[in-house]
Amino acid sequence: MKIPVIIDGQLVKVEKGTSVIKAAGIAGITIPTLCYHDALKPYGACRICMVEVIYQKQRRVVTACNFPTEAGMEVHTDTAKVREIRRMVIRLLLARCPDVPILKKLAQSMGIEDIKLKQKDEKECILCGLCVRFCDEVVGANAIGLSNRGIEREVTTPFKVLSGTCIGCGSCTYICPTGCIEMVVDGEKTGMRMEMGNISIDPCQDNYECETCDVDKEFMTTVKRVFAEFRNKYSSH
Ligand code: SF4
Ligand code: SF4
Ligand code: FES
Repeated sequence: MKIPVIIDGQLVKVEKGTSVIKAAGIAGITIPTLCYHDALKPYGACRICMVEVIYQKQRRVVTACNFPTEAGMEVHTDTAKVREIRRMVIRLLLARCPDVPILKKLAQSMGIEDIKLKQKDEKECILCGLCVRFCDEVVGANAIGLSNRGIEREVTTPFKVLSGTCIGCGSCTYICPTGCIEMVVDGEKTGMRMEMGNISIDPCQDNYECETCDVDKEFMTTVKRVFAEFRNKYSSH
């Protein structure tokens, strides 16, 4: 059932339950995001997609990526309050990751000028969880996760040991918006190894000769196909 929603003064009709971000997209309005990808379930972690909604006479600030639309809802994506919240979010992220290009770009677009210079030992992970969710939801390997809290929060392998389930597909590398996961060639025998801060994943001891090992060929084919489709669809990412 389609319902009417007003986004920045524009009337659009969307399926009931469509997220605010998707409804805005239908209206041709782009909301900034860092942890959202429409190939994955919304996560609501970065808070950069904040918008104001008015529904049943109540005005609220919500995350557009995971907030469902309702009939008659009004959405405002660019109010003074929304801009202020987004600026605060970007400042906090920049304090953690001062040299990440996507954050600098967003900061500039929001008129934030006091961006810190690159610091020694800076982190680049903005904790958006895209890599973790892609590995779980699309690849099905569940090789990495977010652990710890506060400033100790990080993406890592279970128990911080070499991952036994990583298949080395490179999806996490591709989807990471800050480029902090790299695939590297590690000698002739091991094939690929992935490094991200203090984690190390050593996925294949057989140089990806899948037909000779336990990794199911069909599964590998599916992963490659999904990844190719994903790359084609989001090649502008
Ligand atoms: S390379 Fe490994 S950790 Fe990264 S998405 Fe693929 S299976 Fe997951
Ligand atoms: S490693 Fe990249 S994709 Fe994963 S949580 Fe950090 S910034 Fe996001
Ligand atoms: S994009 Fe909505 S919280 Fe990150």
